[in-house]
Amino acid sequence: MTREKDIDTLFLEERRYPPSAEFAAQANAQPGIYEEDFDAFWEREGRERVAWFEPFTKLYEWEPPYARWYLGGKLNVAWNCLDKHVEAGRGDSVAYYWEGEPEGDRRELTYADLLAEVTKLANGLKQLGVGKGTPVGIYMGMVPEAPVAMLACARLGAPHTVVFGGFSADSLAGRLQDMECEVLITQDEAWRRGTTVPLKRTADEAVAASPTVQSVIVLRRTGNDVPMTAGRDHWWHELAVDASACPAEPMDPEDLLYLLYTSGTTAKPKGIAHTTAGYLVGVATTHHYIFDLKRDADVYWCAADVGWVTGHSYIVYGPLCNGAASVMYEGTPDFPDKDRWWEVAERYGVTILYTAPTAIRSHMKWGPEHAAKHDLSKLRLLGSVGEPINPEAWIWYHEHIGGERCPIVDTWWQTETGMIMITPLPGITTTKPGSATKPFPGVDAAIYNDAGEEVGPGGGGYLVLRRPWPAMLRGLYKEHDRYVDTYWSRYDDVYFAGDGARVDEDSDFWLLGRVDDVMNVSGHRISTIEVESALVDHHDVAEAAVAARHDGTTGQAIVAFVTLKSGIEGSVAMLEELRDHVAKKIGPIAKPANIVFTPELPKTRSGKIMRRLLRDVAENRPLGDTTTLADPTVVEELRHRGAEEQSNED
Ligand code: WTA
Repeated sequence: MTREKDIDTLFLEERRYPPSAEFAAQANAQPGIYEEDFDAFWEREGRERVAWFEPFTKLYEWEPPYARWYLGGKLNVAWNCLDKHVEAGRGDSVAYYWEGEPEGDRRELTYADLLAEVTKLANGLKQLGVGKGTPVGIYMGMVPEAPVAMLACARLGAPHTVVFGGFSADSLAGRLQDMECEVLITQDEAWRRGTTVPLKRTADEAVAASPTVQSVIVLRRTGNDVPMTAGRDHWWHELAVDASACPAEPMDPEDLLYLLYTSGTTAKPKGIAHTTAGYLVGVATTHHYIFDLKRDADVYWCAADVGWVTGHSYIVYGPLCNGAASVMYEGTPDFPDKDRWWEVAERYGVTILYTAPTAIRSHMKWGPEHAAKHDLSKLRLLGSVGEPINPEAWIWYHEHIGGERCPIVDTWWQTETGMIMITPLPGITTTKPGSATKPFPGVDAAIYNDAGEEVGPGGGGYLVLRRPWPAMLRGLYKEHDRYVDTYWSRYDDVYFAGDGARVDEDSDFWLLGRVDDVMNVSGHRISTIEVESALVDHHDVAEAAVAARHDGTTGQAIVAFVTLKSGIEGSVAMLEELRDHVAKKIGPIAKPANIVFTPELPKTRSGKIMRRLLRDVAENRPLGDTTTLADPTVVEELRHRGAEEQSNED
């Protein structure tokens, strides 16, 4: 099914799921929340959700396109996530139920345990010269030490950048160089589907290309031997030993908390900047109302990776600030068996589950029998994030995981927004499969047409945000012009999200996917240009163009059109080589699903690649895995349609 047909069916979706009276009665969000005044709402949440060393004196300042929030206060994010709970006598409450990928590998960390670990690492970091403002890179898998590393940085006021463990040495190096990181925290290896991922080896390659990195901290995870460079590399367990108190640095509200790099429409990822106070208030507030967290009763599981923004906001900072007990799982959903997730959910009595449509569709494909083997009766709320959820997946999630009793919150947001922006509120909102429904209280979202006019019920256009919000990005690191161009040049003083959307008669929003050259593969953002650059970097490639097609499991799949240098033949071996090359340059998540070898790419007279045409071809043709290798009909179609459009232009 093409995306367009998909969109029409989506919009015609008529099933409605009103909240149950039981849920509504106990919900953190009560109906009046939508009527609250913008300033009053964020003012109150700022004081309630977060503890301050010194209270803020001014709610916000807005000098488009930059906002500053909770001015005049002093606070520390790690203190809010740890000490606040320990000092309140909740040190024995569980912060993370951690489940390793190898079966039986489990750890339980209370808030007091986590504080102890963070203190030791922060003391170790100090010894290496890390202090307020020192940039630190983190390249780890899903181990409890990943949040520990983030929190140790936050405690010292050292901004971090977490790089997803699936990224290549080149991608890691690009980020370490851009942020000028002085320290990198990594681990020997990570577990993935019973094999090991050589994180330290990849880190070594990246550090060799990143002259600012002075020290590398290595956590022992698998225990296999890895090379250590004397003077530069330190074992975590040897460095993080000093348990004496390490005071949390009092930070200004607008001090940088972290950078998270994400794909834009050029080859170079953007460094999204998030600061301290507004970000923390934003993630804690949304987490409280949207996940309806009751901290002493709920077991919350966000099944994302800490390498993405979902992990930052809803595995680490939001849940910890709110004192949640979270499940953290190291491995993949189907290892060793396809019921691994449900086994984990049953073991810990998970009550709230937050995951992505792509994962739900995988489970759908595997069949409901895997979930049915386990007792999931404690689940009371489900969440979705990362891409539009198709109604079939929504319904499946509702029936087979949620037992038809759990509200589903389909949450729209971005790395840039830092926090969830459009979402149902459980207990209030009547949900519709496929709709993210309403802007969160204190969020001013709208849909604009090309002329910058707001589109009314039944209309479609571009999603925009008209007022600043606490967790909004504070810019792109060292790239002011790009910040303005990307988000603020389409409309005056209004944030352009890059997503298409429609609004229905009930003023509910339906998100339709990106309107730029950013693809969404399994909920991961990948730019077409990034993949093209990786392909043309291969010595046999003359030219490459990339487009996305619809995929039943991953949402979108990457299709590459490649022209090889003369004398080089397309072959299955070449196809594999190019895929591996992309994996090496960016990471396995960016591997094209299909590669079409074509003697030429369709271009306009001015030499521009006709991307829309490629998108159409990618979208509308049944592109098998290797069948299109040199499928003469595809190549013929490219040539033919290229010529046709050319003559239309004349
Ligand atoms: C898409 C992930 C529809 C969207 C938190 C956005 C969604 C991009 C949804 C951001 C949703 C995320 N419905 N689309 N519920 N959630 N998206 O930065 O295109 O990795 O712009 O942040 O994902 O991806 P990012």
